Amino acid sequence: MSSKKNNKLRKRFKKEASGAFKSINSSVELDKFLFREDIEGSIAHAKMLESKKIISKSDFKKISIGLKKILSEIELGKFTFKSDLEDIHMNIENRLEELIGEVAGKLHTARSRNDQVVTDVKLWMKKDIDNILSKIIKLQKIIIKKSENNIDTLFPGMTHFQTAQPVSFAHHLMAYYEMFKRDLERFNQSKRRLDQNPLGAGALAGTSFDINRYQTTKLLKFKEPTRNSLDTVSDRDFMMDYIFSSSLCSIHMSRLAEEIILWSSDLINFINLGDDMLSSSSIMPQKKNPDAMELVRAKASIIISNLSAIQNVMKGLPLTYSKDLQEDKNLLTSTSANLKLSIDCMIDVIKGLKTNEKNMENALRSSYSNATELADWLVKNLNYSFRKSHGLSAKIVNFAEKKGVKLDKLNLSDYQEFDKNINKTVYNAISLQSSVDNKKSFGGTSRSQVKKMIKLAKKEILK
Ligand code: ARG
Repeated sequence: MSSKKNNKLRKRFKKEASGAFKSINSSVELDKFLFREDIEGSIAHAKMLESKKIISKSDFKKISIGLKKILSEIELGKFTFKSDLEDIHMNIENRLEELIGEVAGKLHTARSRNDQVVTDVKLWMKKDIDNILSKIIKLQKIIIKKSENNIDTLFPGMTHFQTAQPVSFAHHLMAYYEMFKRDLERFNQSKRRLDQNPLGAGALAGTSFDINRYQTTKLLKFKEPTRNSLDTVSDRDFMMDYIFSSSLCSIHMSRLAEEIILWSSDLINFINLGDDMLSSSSIMPQKKNPDAMELVRAKASIIISNLSAIQNVMKGLPLTYSKDLQEDKNLLTSTSANLKLSIDCMIDVIKGLKTNEKNMENALRSSYSNATELADWLVKNLNYSFRKSHGLSAKIVNFAEKKGVKLDKLNLSDYQEFDKNINKTVYNAISLQSSVDNKKSFGGTSRSQVKKMIKLAKKEILK
């Protein structure tokens, strides 16, 4: 069939679309992923037209049988998508006409591709968000499991990437649990906000047909219909919202990926990754590279750029629909695919991650990570002001450094040179394990607090 005969939307034109115009205008390669939702939306729309007696019962039957046939053709890979037919909507409408004849033309009564496309996208996004939510929960469960196995693992808590204070490795991992918990909430909110049915907004103004938007709302399981037809067809807030939620989640994953890359470097050697998540070099046979985590870090950049891209598309658009909006699909699918793949990789990496406790502890022992604990001891036992004890602890660190020992190896007589009232209970206070366990403040790193938070997290995740 010639493309001219095919294209029902060019009757007003004397000339065929130019090759370049066809290329820029056609979106079917980018929106055919919406075929299920497009058919679902069309069946609901046709059902409503039938209920309102805008089309007959037998027309509805033909339309719905035809649409279901198209669905199976696409699912079986027997459908030929034609780029000349612009988009998924026209491809399906065209095939429907091939299958059932002129009756197919009744489907588009009281509808426009402008409300149709937003309906499709929203239906797709609702399912996609559910998919993302379950992946995040899976990741959180893996984090909880790793944390449970590492409550006793001493780890150098850092600020400025310098050893700061000893923490439990579980506490460090559980920090990410909190980030992903916020992501979960954010995606749930995004889903709630997009849960409005656009169908019935028409091209921009609504429709003169006596339609029932509540019926399609119910059939498509939306919470309610949108309330302003102009806003409905031009709004992409829900998509920016989703990409923003994705960008934050990907930022969290990128930070974790960055830490994993550093920890697994042979320069630091705190952890080893499972062989199934490593690759080697084409020249250096000894190499074990954390490519998966590097790619997760880079995928975050792509998602952040997608957010910026859609915001830039939106910021100058007058109401209502402009073809600029067609570019949203690519940003949406790129975001979704990159985010989901990143979460899957993170799950596998955390699963196979092995800790080198000795190296973590050595990092603590080779630093003065218990200097704050010494200062705290002076406050609690000798009634120092914190500022004064901070100064004295710094002096003691300098002295120990000159002597080439760590604080736990300084003689009591050395301590007593600084203050004669310092006694041997100081040694217990500054041990690495007490440094951790003393931090009993709510949300602190003591094993008791960490256990409590893991328990809360498990409760949360199971409900
Ligand atoms: N393919 C179009 C898109 O994704 C569908 C809407 C087309 N509307 C129009 N007035 N040309 O945005």
